[in-house]
Amino acid sequence: MNDTLRDNAYGHFSGDGREYVITDPRTPRPWVNVIANPRLGLVVSQTGSGFTFVDNSQLGVITRWQQELVEDCSGKALYLRDAATGSVWSAAPAPIWAPDARHICRHGLGFTTFETARDGVDCRWTLLAHAERTAELWLVELANHSGRARLLELVAYLEWNCGVAPAPRREFQKLFMETAYDDGARAVVARSHMWEVGSECWGHWNTDFPYVAAFACSEPPAAVEGDKLEFLGRYRSLRDPAALAAPTWAGRFGRHGDPVAAMRVAVELPAGGSKAMAFVLAVESSADEALELTRELASPEAVRSALNDVRRSWQERLAAHRVAGPDPTLDILVNDWARYQAISARLWGRCGYYQQSGAYGFRDQLQDSQVWLTIEPERCRQQIALHAAHQFADGSVYHWWHPLSELGHVTRMTDDLLWLAFVTAGYLKETGDIDILRDEVPFLDDPHAAPLLEHIERAFARVFRRTSTRGLPFIGAGDWNDGLSAVGLEEKGESVWLGHFLAGLLRDWSEIHRRRGDERRAAELERRRAELVDAINRHGWDGAWYLRGTLDDGTLLGSAGNAEGRIFLNAQTWAVLADVAPAERAAACMAAVAEHLADDAGALLLAPAYTVPRRDIGYITRYAPGLRENGGVYSHAAVWAIAAAAKVRNAGLAARLLHAMDPTGKDPERYWAEPYVLPGNVDGPASPWHGRGGWTWYTGSAAWLHRVVCEWVLGVRPEWDGLVVDPCLPPGWPGARMTRPFRGATYEIEIERVGDLPDGVWTELELDGATVVGTLLPAPRAAGERHRVRARCR
Ligand code: GLC
Repeated sequence: MNDTLRDNAYGHFSGDGREYVITDPRTPRPWVNVIANPRLGLVVSQTGSGFTFVDNSQLGVITRWQQELVEDCSGKALYLRDAATGSVWSAAPAPIWAPDARHICRHGLGFTTFETARDGVDCRWTLLAHAERTAELWLVELANHSGRARLLELVAYLEWNCGVAPAPRREFQKLFMETAYDDGARAVVARSHMWEVGSECWGHWNTDFPYVAAFACSEPPAAVEGDKLEFLGRYRSLRDPAALAAPTWAGRFGRHGDPVAAMRVAVELPAGGSKAMAFVLAVESSADEALELTRELASPEAVRSALNDVRRSWQERLAAHRVAGPDPTLDILVNDWARYQAISARLWGRCGYYQQSGAYGFRDQLQDSQVWLTIEPERCRQQIALHAAHQFADGSVYHWWHPLSELGHVTRMTDDLLWLAFVTAGYLKETGDIDILRDEVPFLDDPHAAPLLEHIERAFARVFRRTSTRGLPFIGAGDWNDGLSAVGLEEKGESVWLGHFLAGLLRDWSEIHRRRGDERRAAELERRRAELVDAINRHGWDGAWYLRGTLDDGTLLGSAGNAEGRIFLNAQTWAVLADVAPAERAAACMAAVAEHLADDAGALLLAPAYTVPRRDIGYITRYAPGLRENGGVYSHAAVWAIAAAAKVRNAGLAARLLHAMDPTGKDPERYWAEPYVLPGNVDGPASPWHGRGGWTWYTGSAAWLHRVVCEWVLGVRPEWDGLVVDPCLPPGWPGARMTRPFRGATYEIEIERVGDLPDGVWTELELDGATVVGTLLPAPRAAGERHRVRARCR
């Protein structure tokens, strides 16, 4: 195995791919890690900046951070000072950026380690979230290679937020906060007596922040400070805090300051000596519980063991489903980083550096939860129930809602509610477990629980009612594409994409009803699908591709006649994915994708970009041209394009689009963003920064990339009666392998490209040595079975 993979000017993957090692911290943008367990999370960048939150990355923010990606110097700090010479540096590049320090940052699955060498002293600072408890843990390991005895001072620093973030009104917020130092526990305790969350039951802004945090050290500190002014000094900054050189600290805690936590620990290191220390940031609902947790965890041994648990838990979580192709970094991305991104950042943390969200997007986290399907389908089922519980009795849903406050956003977005049906159908294909339809879940405005099936039926019924006279669904204030926010406000504008999406769902749900024995409902949905497909093909075809829709006044959206927004990606790709396009139209619209949208940065969401704001279309037209949905590569949709290209057997296009999106091999000077996770978007050709990635981590493309590579490139996808194996390998790939669980059994699948298949045959299969007719492997008979599959493909 190589020691490093995909070296660029700033870093590389470790040989096993489980770490991304940043050797030059001056990356074009912050390259961060979003580390989370189901409740607590932290974001940490390669400079050492970042923040910590619990339960909600917007409402439950424990430590303070400013979204300032150019400076990237806020939040936490770990300083080192040589007591003999007074020279100072930091254990990560920020805040001090000492010119003679060497910094390496290792982002791993569940932890980040900074290695800093300066003046004969090595420092390793590892930050992680405990695998289960609401605690952030630091392990600090110092080693003296200088050949002489050293007296060092280590200063840990963070700013308390204890409430909602971003908090632009710090002067207001701090009036409610309280800190104390607990000598016995070696811990600073922080709380806030006001939480800026409107709530019907507690009264407006009339409640405590429901958490208490404690920041503790394994060593008795020589000095502690609770006030920012005392620590920094007047008009100084984190780069140059007065406290580092001050022999004594005032130690101001209480209710009247600007609350921070700083602890100074003296460390004597003989020549060749080393020392390990731990810091714990514990969050609980009372000070006693928080201090109790720090007592349990604030030792180097406890943190080392927690770090082992975290590493092991990620490995185990991702072990059952693995792919191996000829490109090791694509494997690393698909197997490890994309799924880690989907789980840690999207489902648990719901956070990135570009977006401190905390909310559940109705469609977003449902789609993300598909990442569990092959490994822990029960978690997907729980996500489905959670979202079903955020549906109103009339079938409509919150566009997003906040856990903790339960405040949600009601919009006239028209697709959100249908994702419940989409992900449930995916769950059913994967598990075959029809019982899920009987899961009892209440509605937001009706506490009486109803079966999941009823929730889904109400969503369908609502969408059916919103149909134009031409038989197309209304687009309302947007469908999947939030930025099409004004297209159909008068309930006249139509959506072709939503038509495709609905048609795909009707295909699946008529099958589901058939399987549950409701032939009448199956036939009805089949009829509706036939009518819808007919309406789309009659009114939605523009001549060479599908329209995106119509505005309220009937103007065409995504038509060859438009100067801007002439062709939209989703209207083509979903025509294929939902089997709406007849074969020749499928080929034609994908050829249009190849011609107008396939960019070297990925598939563009639309082209050409809008340059002038359009009140009648919505905020998508207000982004600078080429950014985000406005003619950029919107990764979420760009991944679907790979699936659609593979589905029409355009292996060249699928491979091109996949390669274009793969962040691992990008030139950082053009791409800027992290090479190990997916970005939300990449600038399109209308931007002077064409090819620049942004909005990393917080994107639905992560879970989808995993799914699309497994199901469409490698072609292994669940169907009602078994597992289809029908790959569409990138040209030049000799083959690939996959280990995959399916309904309790394990499949070892070996894919091999061959040149001798009969005309019209794409794949030949063998199951446990016996030839299979077609491409469907029958469902396993019993859990625990192991099967070997050989696929010979074109
Ligand atoms: C954002 C939203 C997502 C939407 C997408 C496209 O990512 O969270 O729900 O589909 O934008 O507009």
